[in-house]
Amino acid sequence: MTKGGECVKNFALLQGKLMQPQSDIQERKNQHLDLALKAQMASALKDQRFSYEPLLKGHPTEAQILKERAFLGKSILAPLWISSMTGGSDKAQTINKRLAQIAGEFGLGMGLGSCRVLLEAPERFNDFDLRGLLGDARPFYANLGLAQIEQMLALGETDRINNMVEKLRCDGLIIHVNPLQEWFQVGGDRIERPPLETIEGLLEHFKFPVVIKEVGQGMGPASLRELLKLPIRGIEFAAFGGTNFTQLEALRSERPMPNRLNELSCVGHTAEEMVIEVNQLLSTFENDNTSPKGGHEFIISGGIKSFLEGFYLMKKLNAPCIYGQAKAFLVAADRGEEELRQFVRQQLESLALAEQYLVVN
Ligand SMILES: Cc1cc2nc3c(=O)[nH]c(=O)nc-3n(C[C@H](O)[C@H](O)[C@H](O)COP(=O)(O)O)c2cc1C
Repeated sequence: MTKGGECVKNFALLQGKLMQPQSDIQERKNQHLDLALKAQMASALKDQRFSYEPLLKGHPTEAQILKERAFLGKSILAPLWISSMTGGSDKAQTINKRLAQIAGEFGLGMGLGSCRVLLEAPERFNDFDLRGLLGDARPFYANLGLAQIEQMLALGETDRINNMVEKLRCDGLIIHVNPLQEWFQVGGDRIERPPLETIEGLLEHFKFPVVIKEVGQGMGPASLRELLKLPIRGIEFAAFGGTNFTQLEALRSERPMPNRLNELSCVGHTAEEMVIEVNQLLSTFENDNTSPKGGHEFIISGGIKSFLEGFYLMKKLNAPCIYGQAKAFLVAADRGEEELRQFVRQQLESLALAEQYLVVN
């Protein structure tokens, strides 16, 4: 087409955008009149965490919504992690496949649920065999509990973990450290050594990167300090304020607690508290020449209810990080693949909007 022809076409497109049907305009104007009274905000609802800057940028483009970035030695297209959940039953397999499919479509990283079942029942391999759906470029981590690692170290069986990670084509292993959950779980394992010793022991024999997480209660500064000294790849908070596996085991227990609330479910550290703790530790390390210089990456998770909370905490943490969710993904995945797709799409669009127009106070 000639240059002039192109101009005419662009003008026609623009005119099409500007000229809306009269019936649409009337409908919209009537809705404004009907809904204006319901759209009143109390000033107390204002989110104090952000300054809103509407004049500085345009709407996010598709390239800004899905933007390639490095994480855990691989690449992701959005700073959102599917936290470790499930595997080991037919329903779990369906959920896992949906999650991996959507992670593949949107370029997200994903942690598998505990792969212990795989060590005991290799016929469940399909539940966890998600690399093909996720794609090679994305970070994809296997998952085991600290207690299993402790036992396998004692038996000299760490090669089985290396083999499992290899067979799953995972990039590394997430270890969940969950002493309170294990204690309250009927038939749960007993942890005999300080978990730090077990992690150090595994690192001597393990070929892949390791990430350490809790399961819904987070961890305090003394534990974080020690973790930051180890040559692990990252830390997932799995903080207090969302799904809590000590409480989940209390609910499963045949000896229910008063009000079915286990007091030890109520201790822990929220994601925001952990952000502050990590920042303090990193700045102490920076000023102390004898401390390691890190290189750790973080998944801010545990009770992250929305993209805005994730966005806020990522901006606050002074280290490479993304945010993760478990329960929110589970709810959406349970409703079906299309619901899950919409859930992720909406979250990523909203995140990109936040990036364009919000500045953290
Ligand atoms: C159904 C379900 C199963 C989970 N199973 C595991 C698991 O096998 N291993 C693990 O490390 N964490 C597991 N978690 C914990 C999550 O990874 C996450 O740390 C925790 O749910 C807090 O995040 P949330 O508040 O967004 O749910 C599970 C969570 C859910 C909801």
